[in-house]
Amino acid sequence: CGIVGVTGNDNAVKILVEGLQKLEYRGYDSAGIYVNDQKGNDYLVKTKGRISQLREKITPDVHGSTGIGHTRWATHGVVSVDNAHPHFSNDDRFYLVHNGVIDNFQEIKAQYLSDVPFRSQTDTEVVVQLIDKFAVEDNLDAKSAFLKALSLLKGSYAFLLMDREQPDTLFVAKNKSPLLVGVADGFNVVCSDAMAMLRETHDFLEIMDGEVVTVTPNDVKIQDADGNPVERKTYHVDMNADETDKGTYPFYMLKEVDEQPNVMRKLAQTYLSEHGEPQIDDKLIKAMQAADRLYIIGAGTSYHAGLVGKRLFERLAHIPTEVHVSSEFAYEQPMLADKPFFIFLTQSGETADSREVLVNVNDAGYPSLTITNVQNSTLSREASYTLLLHAGPEIAVASTKAYTAQIALEAILAKALGEVNGQIVAQNFNIRQQLGLVATGMQAIVDEKAKIEDLANNYLMKSNRAFYIGRGIDHAVSLEAALKLKEISYVQAEGFASGELKHGTIALIEKDTPVIGFITQAKTAGLTRSNLQETMARGAKTMTIVREGLAIDGDTLVLPDVDEMLMPLLTVVPAQLLAYYTSLNKGLDVDKPRNLAKSVTVE
Ligand code: G6P
Repeated sequence: CGIVGVTGNDNAVKILVEGLQKLEYRGYDSAGIYVNDQKGNDYLVKTKGRISQLREKITPDVHGSTGIGHTRWATHGVVSVDNAHPHFSNDDRFYLVHNGVIDNFQEIKAQYLSDVPFRSQTDTEVVVQLIDKFAVEDNLDAKSAFLKALSLLKGSYAFLLMDREQPDTLFVAKNKSPLLVGVADGFNVVCSDAMAMLRETHDFLEIMDGEVVTVTPNDVKIQDADGNPVERKTYHVDMNADETDKGTYPFYMLKEVDEQPNVMRKLAQTYLSEHGEPQIDDKLIKAMQAADRLYIIGAGTSYHAGLVGKRLFERLAHIPTEVHVSSEFAYEQPMLADKPFFIFLTQSGETADSREVLVNVNDAGYPSLTITNVQNSTLSREASYTLLLHAGPEIAVASTKAYTAQIALEAILAKALGEVNGQIVAQNFNIRQQLGLVATGMQAIVDEKAKIEDLANNYLMKSNRAFYIGRGIDHAVSLEAALKLKEISYVQAEGFASGELKHGTIALIEKDTPVIGFITQAKTAGLTRSNLQETMARGAKTMTIVREGLAIDGDTLVLPDVDEMLMPLLTVVPAQLLAYYTSLNKGLDVDKPRNLAKSVTVE
């Protein structure tokens, strides 16, 4: 979910709605705002659906100078207007927006609020009714009632609370979920992601778990968990508001696919010297050198980038590397090596599943690195080291350039580590030249959009099932290729180790089932070709995506040659575009597929 707040600006409605629009990637099943004009007028507008629908419901009389807003990704309770935020107390005094999940809301409801009627099924309404109960029954002011309620809550939250009796004040608290205060010229804002408020300010204050913050038009007061005042300096977010626009592109996803060649160049510029030597913090390399095993942790697409990273770290740096899905690792930790080093891959830096692992890693005192696209994000702040992807904001829910950026950065890091480890493969790996070839290769692929769109129409539009197959590193990419197709086109796609298909799953192959083979590794090219033949013999409609050096007559898409280790950076691009065009030509909302959110800050 996404949260915004503003106080001290007569354009509060506009600021909130534009902010929510920028946060729509965090959830888009319902939305709402509450604003107060400090003169006794206030307005609550909520809707099912997108921010565009919220805009339609906001009539010209809705105005105010202080307000809060929310865009939801449903956790507790169906998608409905009643379940949309802001939630409010039965006496209409308190208004609350919330991101996260309160684990003990049923217990609180039973213990404290058994006589209170509820209009929604949400955990959030329980909190706002609880605050109200404490304020009224114990005669507490808003802040004290808020603090008392917070002391009872278990779970994750970012809260923004308003009290009609102090209508220019935003009460703010967080635990595990992200939230920032932005300091603007003569007014202040609050948001889950700096991106939402870049039109208002570039100067932000971090808020730590357990702190309670009161924000008024000219002041921000932070208080730590023990009630002591905290002084904190703002940090500057170096991002242009325009970077978050989609320009002339119909969808962000296509823009982000097209940006990949530049992302490769930017990473080379940032992390490599003119002579191609990695420029990575010595301390980080030393910490990694001291490890006897690397553990890569990620969710979704980031996990898939980790599967490629494993091959890079093992081949270039000669260090055993495991890759784990964060939500699994958090609750069933495998036996660890003596000196583990953790690498967190997370585009957003906020994924709750991954953060849960980092919290445990920090408790155990193990060193860690977060590779993320978002400066100052939670996982970046909490890990021992951070490397930024510099991919520019990624807004489409389906991740594209963050995946390729993660792989490229893993390659640079593996090369750096391999060199200090005296690995000849790493010394001979000309990464600067290779990333240059990758950028040119990506450009050649994105220039073939018309051809890839035809393939999407011929292979994927008519089928509700598809397979991507490959071996080794190609298998790793096949998982990501299948995920792209599933998430935005709703084709049930599976990525499969091509040798394993015949051991059961081949039973699903029928006439014209699309089977797409990745063939980029010399050692296994022939084997994957045989596996494709086996599916063809059973009626499959096969397509090959092949590295030039391994191509034969009749291959469907031939990709430029780069080092085999870096081929995933190219093979994934046609898969991204196949998914894009399948989704587009089915008339779906490519950037905002159903049921998903880009940044999932609940476990
Ligand atoms: C969500 C998104 C995925 C993303 C995953 C991990 O589920 O829909 O596209 O891969 O989170 O996100 P992260 O920001 O940690 O890379």
